[in-house]
Amino acid sequence: MKESVITNYELLDDQTMDNTIRPESIDEYVGQTDVKENIRIFIEAAKMRKEPLDHVLLYGPPGLGKTTLAFIIAHELGTNIKTASGPSIEKAGDLAAILSSLEPGDVLFIDEIHRMPRYIEELLYPAMEDFSLDIIVGSEGNSRNIKIDLPPFTLVGATTRAGDLSAPLRDRFGIISKLQFYSIEELRDIVKRTSRVLEMPITEEAAIELAKRSRGTPRIVNKLFKRVRDFAMVKKSNEITKKITEEALERLKVDKIGLDNTDRELLLAIINRFNGGPVGIDALSSSIGEEVITIEDVYEPYLLQIGLLKRTSRGRVVTDKAYEVLGIEKRK
Ligand SMILES: Nc1ncnc2c1ncn2[C@@H]1O[C@H](COP(=O)(O)OP(=O)(O)OP(=O)(O)O)[C@@H](O)[C@H]1O
Ligand SMILES: [Mg+2]
Repeated sequence: MKESVITNYELLDDQTMDNTIRPESIDEYVGQTDVKENIRIFIEAAKMRKEPLDHVLLYGPPGLGKTTLAFIIAHELGTNIKTASGPSIEKAGDLAAILSSLEPGDVLFIDEIHRMPRYIEELLYPAMEDFSLDIIVGSEGNSRNIKIDLPPFTLVGATTRAGDLSAPLRDRFGIISKLQFYSIEELRDIVKRTSRVLEMPITEEAAIELAKRSRGTPRIVNKLFKRVRDFAMVKKSNEITKKITEEALERLKVDKIGLDNTDRELLLAIINRFNGGPVGIDALSSSIGEEVITIEDVYEPYLLQIGLLKRTSRGRVVTDKAYEVLGIEKRK
């Protein structure tokens, strides 16, 4: 069956490939030990009680595995999962349609839950608490309230910004889990698994090199793996070596510690234009032409984590380590 091998290699687009390499069961989900163990226990208890699992809120920077974990929760519960995203639920009717399509015990996954309109959020409270939905039907002057009974379900919400969630919504989640950046060993394991699934061998050294340069993020390690795999194929190598990895990453302008152009631009802007900081987020945003939200959600968390950036009450400051990493002399 030669074709299937070729399909595996060349015809999969990124989206399909994402689904292929996404772990399905909790045992295949690498890292996040505390979160995983808690969820494992809660799932077991819910199954023993024959009740739906408590609502779960997953938060943390992009690409750390929130969506993946939501699917795993449904898989482990042995139920279906329906997905929606916060901004796409615009009208009461949208929510009613989604909720009434659920079977008892199903998981409803709402991505970007912080971007749900406020009045939809308020409709969701009784749905989460009592599995009932109160909506107004009819037109003005001739409207009435109706109450719809819903099947018991589990809401899994995901957000990059837990702080943007209103307190009443947050309080209705029984399980709140923060996903952490992954260690180099964990990312190495993830990329080795991806290599097995996609049938392109990688050496241990190369896997570690990719892991080191992936900003603690599974999505990035998988993305870099795919690009490096392209290099290896063009070079007619049947495995990914450290040398190929280094060459490829050099071309992709991913540096030794995994910073990309925007990371470097952000740090350099603070150093060169704001004398190292402190600088307010708005000034920084216009200086580098990235939205405040993108800086806060995508770039900053990792730079804070590895100690290149600090947040103070007066704004962002680069650390001595940032000067060192960028090879810049600190001005007195
Ligand atoms: N713990 C893990 N073990 C193995 N692979 C993982 C893990 N977490 C994530 N991945 C991989 O990383 C990719 C990105 O994960 P996912 O889409 O779940 O992130 P996310 O947190 O939902 O991101 P976003 O905030 O952008 O929606 C997935 O395709 C999956 O293959
Ligand atoms: Mg997601």
